[in-house]
Amino acid sequence: SRQRFSLLLLSGLSSGLDGKWSLFSSDGSVSLPAEVPGCVHSALQQQGHIQDPYFRFNDLSYRWIALNNWTYVTTFNVSAEVRTKQKIHLVFDGVDTVASIWLNGVILGSTDNMFRRYEQSSFSWDWGPSFPTMGLWKGVRLEAFDILFLVFPVCPDSSLSQWAVQVELLVDVVQKINGQITLSIPELDSEQTVETRFLSGKTKNTFILHINTVKLWWPNSHGDQPFYQLSVRGFQDGFLILNTKSKVYFRTVELVQEPVFGSPGLSFYFRINGKPIFLKGSNWIPAHSFQDQISPAVLRNLLQSAADANMNALRVWGGGVYEQDLFYSICDELGIMIWQDFMFACATYPTEDDFIQTVREEVVQQVQRLKSHPSIIIWSGNNENEAALGTNWFSIPAAERPRYVKDYVKLYVNNIREIVQEEDQSRPFLVSSPTNGAESEREGWVAADPYDPHYGDTHFYSYGHDCWDWRSFPRTRFASEYGFQSWPSFSTLQPVSIKEDWSYTSNFSSHRQHHEGGNQQMLQQAALHFNLPNSTDPLSRFTDTLYITQVMQAQCVKTQTEFYRRSQTEIIEGKGHTMGALYWQLNDIWQAPSWSSIEFGGKWKMLHYFAQNFFASVLPVGFEDGDTLLIYAVSDLSQDLKLRVTVYSWTHPDPVCSLKSDPVLVPGGSALAIFKQPVAALLAGCGRCTRLTCLLTFHLEDGGGQRGPTNQHFLCSPKDAQGLQRPNITAEVQQDESGFTVTLHSAAVAAFVWLDVGSVPGRFSSNGFLMVSRNATVSFTAWRPTSVAELSRSLSIRSLADVY
Ligand SMILES: *[C@@H]1O[C@H](CO)[C@@H](O)[C@H](O)[C@H]1NC(C)=O
Ligand SMILES: *[C@@H]1O[C@H](CO)[C@@H](O)[C@H](O)[C@H]1NC(C)=O
Ligand SMILES: *[C@@H]1O[C@H](CO)[C@@H](O)[C@H](O)[C@H]1NC(C)=O
Ligand SMILES: *[C@@H]1O[C@H](CO)[C@@H](O)[C@H](O)[C@H]1NC(C)=O
Ligand SMILES: *[C@@H]1O[C@H](CO)[C@@H](O)[C@H](O)[C@H]1NC(C)=O
Ligand SMILES: *[C@@H]1O[C@H](CO)[C@@H](O)[C@H](O)[C@H]1NC(C)=O
Repeated sequence: SRQRFSLLLLSGLSSGLDGKWSLFSSDGSVSLPAEVPGCVHSALQQQGHIQDPYFRFNDLSYRWIALNNWTYVTTFNVSAEVRTKQKIHLVFDGVDTVASIWLNGVILGSTDNMFRRYEQSSFSWDWGPSFPTMGLWKGVRLEAFDILFLVFPVCPDSSLSQWAVQVELLVDVVQKINGQITLSIPELDSEQTVETRFLSGKTKNTFILHINTVKLWWPNSHGDQPFYQLSVRGFQDGFLILNTKSKVYFRTVELVQEPVFGSPGLSFYFRINGKPIFLKGSNWIPAHSFQDQISPAVLRNLLQSAADANMNALRVWGGGVYEQDLFYSICDELGIMIWQDFMFACATYPTEDDFIQTVREEVVQQVQRLKSHPSIIIWSGNNENEAALGTNWFSIPAAERPRYVKDYVKLYVNNIREIVQEEDQSRPFLVSSPTNGAESEREGWVAADPYDPHYGDTHFYSYGHDCWDWRSFPRTRFASEYGFQSWPSFSTLQPVSIKEDWSYTSNFSSHRQHHEGGNQQMLQQAALHFNLPNSTDPLSRFTDTLYITQVMQAQCVKTQTEFYRRSQTEIIEGKGHTMGALYWQLNDIWQAPSWSSIEFGGKWKMLHYFAQNFFASVLPVGFEDGDTLLIYAVSDLSQDLKLRVTVYSWTHPDPVCSLKSDPVLVPGGSALAIFKQPVAALLAGCGRCTRLTCLLTFHLEDGGGQRGPTNQHFLCSPKDAQGLQRPNITAEVQQDESGFTVTLHSAAVAAFVWLDVGSVPGRFSSNGFLMVSRNATVSFTAWRPTSVAELSRSLSIRSLADVY
């Protein structure tokens, strides 16, 4: 079981053993052909032995698969040429998980670590089913060689004036050899040759290429992501024995934890290329229970959706998998920064020698494989295990606590941290998330309160509080997890359900909800501000309810994220300088209610459309403090901005009045109050408006016109609004050279206008919006060929007043 960056076998041969294998269950009941890479569930499904495991209650019906033992068998010929080589390796890139490997009746070894590792997300979390997978989930091949080179370009080291590319060469030779290694980046006219000697056996050799001026890699929306081709060549007696090219990117990353003026505690933010950057994004979970079923197109679509929603960061959460190389390559290209957890989550882990040994091997392999990616900006030891000890989730008796803390320190600090710091000095390491960072270290690595908002990052969930009230959110330095659930759309549920499942209280709806009380919590939260759907038609009532959960989620996460973004510059009561907002969670593993903003299959929920706005580079944020309305200008760019506020009544899509502020210089990377007025004074200056009859929209402008999205502020809960009526929206789909457009016509102000084209894959330019004009046009980007006729037929339109 081995991970690697690039393998070079100029003097060797590599024959893939992927493809068709045979698969047997140990009880003799099933035997079938199976694809490698793959897993038992996928093979059974592909051969028609089982249905879609995601259909209805199949996660229960198919438990027998994981309770059985399975054997993969293949036969291969070894050519005469292969036999001439001095060394032959049989390489398994990923074995899931506990297995023995036999060749011609001889046991070669056994495995017990999928990454190398035991626990995985496969045993079900609150957002996913339980499908403990088994199989050869990555490739298998035979490598025969006299000399083996593994090349690891390391992300360049940090100094903005003098750059150095470091290349690690792991060499495996039978006899020592003398040779030359040449490193070059032709585009920069940089080249360096060193005479070297590789000793017999396996050795690690490090080479450095110095460079002066480079173009830098920047996070999404802060600049481009240029790369260079690094060439590494090796010669022995004038013969080329190694020749490889790899991409290198240049950037620096620092995690800054230093005293904050006017606040106890320490800052916690990332500086990329010397510039403080607010991390905007989400948390990533495995995109499928069966890793072999994630196509490159699915991966690219999800990551592109993150970038399109103005995200610049994702956290690869520690209960899933280390993602495949392609994942990180796409993030490099898109400028998505990755907070990479090691795969330890919400549990205590053993510290026996054999476990520590396999973990050490896992960490070395993963760090070597991934460290050339500029997108990865931090390694983090585990998910929530410091918090679990700090706040005693597992009810550990006080007398036993020291032993648990000692084990924690042994695994994450003395082993994982030590290896990472040895293998990769180019990026910071954190022991846990959430953590108090430097303060946790001072307290012996497990802080008394790992959620302290004065230090490090926090995770925060609260379903009982009214999410429209920003006072319930912690003014943290960095919000690395927070969120609210919603249901996916009907078109996503339909293929895995039948008619009797289509109600909010069906067995199916309960079975798909893996978070205790989740379905009720969503309705309770929604009912604080919206009337719950009450259609007499059962199917409408179900689909309206799915919609209202998405409205609730989008509005809740918007409020919380805007709170974090506007807290970027201020210190209030000792708290603030928030520099990150990563909501839980980006994507889904199956068709079920969860915290995701993208449904299984790639469809954007309302939240994802909202994210596009609340993560925009320039954003106005409105909120009330006491009875005063404040509007902040939040900007990643430095600009003179002025604000325009427009007041509407719920009854007419025509402005009642509007006001404009003077221009204010908003420095890049700051959030400034740009407008402040008591609500009563604002309304008094605006005809017969009251809190119940009117609402506000606002946007920022500079000399060139509007900058950033138009935002809105409700002066009451929409369920109390006077004058909100069914808008009777009509729509027309058209196609021109640039694609499909939908032109809407509305008879009234319409809130949370939601366009849905069922199972036609693609996304709208905007959705879930407030319509305060009679007409609006949105475009639709289709992810497969479609037509005006198909879109017109599939299109449905809902707004708030339509569901009750
Ligand atoms: C699977 O193999 C293990 C170890 O040999 C054995 O204990 C177990 O009974 C087997 N299970 C089945 C269903 O054959
Ligand atoms: C191995 O070689 C033999 C003889 O050429 C051939 O009959 C057989 O099909 C080969 N097996 C595989 C798995 O390629
Ligand atoms: C729901 O599940 C329960 C318990 O398994 C069963 O008794 C009941 O008949 C099911 N209801 C429906 C509508 O299928
Ligand atoms: C929408 O249509 C209904 C039913 O025809 C009508 O009662 C209502 O007034 C219409 N709404 C508006 C805003 O015109
Ligand atoms: C709005 O749409 C209606 C119906 O499509 C059209 O008749 C009208 O001219 C449009 N109004 C504006 C201002 O574009
Ligand atoms: C549904 O709820 C709305 C808002 O509370 C109410 O006005 C309406 O009468 C209800 N309709 C039914 C059919 O219960």
